[in-house]
Amino acid sequence: MARLAWRDTPEAYGLVTRGLHWTMATLFAWQWLSMACRLIFGRTPVTAVMVGSHAPVGTVLLLLVLVRIGWFLANRHRRPSHAGDRLAGLARAGHALLYLLMLVIPAIALLRHYGAGRPLSILGVPVLQARPEKIEWMIAPANAVHGWLGWLLLAVVVGHVGAVLLHRFVWRDGVAARMMGRSPG
Ligand code: HEM
Ligand code: HEM
Repeated sequence: MARLAWRDTPEAYGLVTRGLHWTMATLFAWQWLSMACRLIFGRTPVTAVMVGSHAPVGTVLLLLVLVRIGWFLANRHRRPSHAGDRLAGLARAGHALLYLLMLVIPAIALLRHYGAGRPLSILGVPVLQARPEKIEWMIAPANAVHGWLGWLLLAVVVGHVGAVLLHRFVWRDGVAARMMGRSPG
């Protein structure tokens, strides 16, 4: 059996796309888990550690989605196409919505963080310094929709996983294997 290629092919997503997909899925799961624990258990020593990682992990997710968009563009003519898939239009629209939310949610949160003059460090490396003055227009968008869009993304991902399960166990076509299976070569 041939090894998986680094780049995408029309038959399957390559190693880089898969690495980005599964690393980001894990970090997103952590974001939802930590926010859900905060809502359910309130402020405890454990939830404080989880919530304390929310902004740095979210910032890493923003960097990763920028890389992912670049990789998508570089591979767009060679990756698996939806032509001929069941509900191809829905799949394309769903993936586009996932990309949009993955970008907007951390972007507006980071803008608020900066506008509020809060400090930020990632693994001990300072990224933003604290400032006393606040910039209201930078704070407003995330105050209005960041948390709400964060939960909307979770709902869209639940639909995405439901579609993958349909492909795998009901329609039994090769769509799930394009991101999860071995090399088709
Ligand atoms: C990239 C992925 C991210 C996801 C999926 C996400 C998701 C969420 C969710 C679901 C909530 C809970 C809302 C509630 O209480 O019901 C939340 C709150 C919050 N997030 Fe994020 N977040 C992300 C990135 C970030 C980043 C990069 C920052 C800061 C730089 C940030 C700062 C905050 C803050 C301060 C809150 C509490 C206030 C609020 O609800 O707006 N988040 N986030
Ligand atoms: C257990 C969780 C997940 C499973 C089983 C899963 C599975 C898959 C599969 C099989 C594909 C290929 C579908 C196709 O070729 O049409 C795919 C693509 C995709 N998935 Fe997921 N996924 C999961 C979580 C996530 C999460 C959390 C996100 C984003 C927040 C996400 C975003 C995407 C996107 C944007 C694509 C299109 C390919 C790309 O550009 O990377 N997935 N996923």
